[in-house]
Amino acid sequence: MAERLAPIGVMDSGVGGLSVLAEIQRLLPSESLLYVADSGHVPYGEKSPDYIRRRLRHIAEFFREQGAKAMVLACNTATVAAVADLRELYPDWPLVGMEPAVKPAAAATRSGVVGVLATTGTLQSAKFAALLDRFANDVQVITQPCPGLVERIEAGDLVSEQLRQLLSGYVKPLLAAGCDTLILGCTHYPFLRPMLAEMVPADVAIIDTGAAVARQLQRLLGARELLSDGPAQATAFWSSSEPGSLEQVLPLLWNQPGSVQRFVP
Ligand code: DGL
Repeated sequence: MAERLAPIGVMDSGVGGLSVLAEIQRLLPSESLLYVADSGHVPYGEKSPDYIRRRLRHIAEFFREQGAKAMVLACNTATVAAVADLRELYPDWPLVGMEPAVKPAAAATRSGVVGVLATTGTLQSAKFAALLDRFANDVQVITQPCPGLVERIEAGDLVSEQLRQLLSGYVKPLLAAGCDTLILGCTHYPFLRPMLAEMVPADVAIIDTGAAVARQLQRLLGARELLSDGPAQATAFWSSSEPGSLEQVLPLLWNQPGSVQRFVP
């Protein structure tokens, strides 16, 4: 297979990365995509960095066995814990990670107060602290860990009253503190945009980094002459828990059905 026709491996701890996968498919429709949901180990947000690094090594190895020409960590928590380790292991393999959109939010805020919704793991990381140091000196950043949201979204719940109460408990203090810009710093949360839109005033901006990740992937592949001109193969899905659970939520979160294979390591 010509290398540019090789697939791109995209991973998340579960279904969150599907929000990024959709942006990649929109921008790069000729690319073949592989998706691993590490659902047997979700949530990553409450796991140790060491644990997550071990998981990511397995997943990267799997993508390489599948001949992937690049890998996307469609997960903020996995990126802060493991992207440096993977870059060291595979210096010549294009790897794209993601981080909360602090830079664009600091540029966009008019009130000077920005809220970040993310996992505990992301917010506690040195990488996130460095991001604040670099881009958020002139604004006030209020961070809000959101335990429990990922589990609801994994179960395909985007609308329940229980979810609404949980989310509102996280968002209200940020609004009360004067945030006019909310960063969705976990790839699961873009699925909550409709519910969030009902909860926040229309002039509060809600920012995520899915589209920016797709553009970064396009740049990396373009620079190496690895962009595919197609045709793309059907997207292939793997899950490290019961494949039926991911199959059940795919029509809701991916807008199309798909068959899921078991990912064992
Ligand atoms: N979707 C992941 C992120 O972007 C983490 C969710 C989890 O806690 O597993 O941070």
